[in-house]
Amino acid sequence: MHYHYPVYIRLWHLLNALFFLALIMTGLSMQYSNPDSPFISFPLSVKLHNISGIGLTANYLIFFIGNIISGNGKHYREPLKNLDKKYYLQVKYYISGFFKREKPPYPVTEKNKFNPSQAISYAVAMYIGVPLLLITGWGLLFPETILSRVFGVSGLVLTDLLHVITGFLMSVFMFVHIYICTIGKNPFGNFRAIITGWSEAEEK
Ligand code: HEM
Repeated sequence: MHYHYPVYIRLWHLLNALFFLALIMTGLSMQYSNPDSPFISFPLSVKLHNISGIGLTANYLIFFIGNIISGNGKHYREPLKNLDKKYYLQVKYYISGFFKREKPPYPVTEKNKFNPSQAISYAVAMYIGVPLLLITGWGLLFPETILSRVFGVSGLVLTDLLHVITGFLMSVFMFVHIYICTIGKNPFGNFRAIITGWSEAEEK
C-alpha cells in the first residue's frame, strides 16, 4: 500500500466533485430552461451556479497551491516525459490488455502514482480545462470586463461559447474518469484510495 492521497487532495477532490455535480445540474437546467416545467427554476439555477462556481474557484486555489507546496505536482509532470510511446501502451492496455488480464504497463508504485494516461488527462483537465472554465465563468459573472468585440464577433457570445464547450468537455472527462477509475486490480481500489489516502500497489 502507498500513501498517495494526502488529506488536502482528498478534501479538495470531494468538494470538487460536489461542486462539479451542482454546476452540471444547474448549468444544464439553465441551458435547457423551460418555464412551464423547470427541473430547477431559472433564478435558483443561476444563484446555485454562481455560488458553486465561486466555491470551485476557491477550492481550485487549494489544489493549485497545495500541489506546489506538497510536491504532489511532480506526479503530474514526471510521466509526461517521452509521452507518445508510453501513452500508446497505456491506452492499448485500457482497450485491450486489461480485458485479456495482462499486467498493466505502468503499475502503481511508491514513485508512480499515475500512469501516463492519467497524468496527461489530469494535467490537461486541471491546468487547462478547469482554469478555462473558471476564467470564462468569472467573465460571464462580470460581463463589463469582457472585450466587446473580437474580430467583429461579440466578446460575450465568444466567452459564453467557450464556457459551454469547456463545461461539456469537462463533464465528458468526469464520466470517462469515473469509468477509468474502475480499471485496476479490483474495481473499487481507486475509490477506496481517494477516501482513505492509501492506494494498492500493483508492482510485480
Ligand atoms: C463523482 C465524481 C468523481 C469521482 C467518483 C472521482 C473519482 C476519483 C478517484 C477514485 C480517484 C483516485 C484514482 C486516481 O488518482 O486516478 C480520483 C482522482 C482524481 N480526480 Fe476524480 N472523481 C470525480 C470527479 C472529478 C472531477 C470533476 C475532477 C476534475 C475536474 C477530478 C479530478 C481528479 C484528479 C485530478 C485526481 C488525482 C488527484 C491527485 O491525486 O492529485 N475528479 N478521482
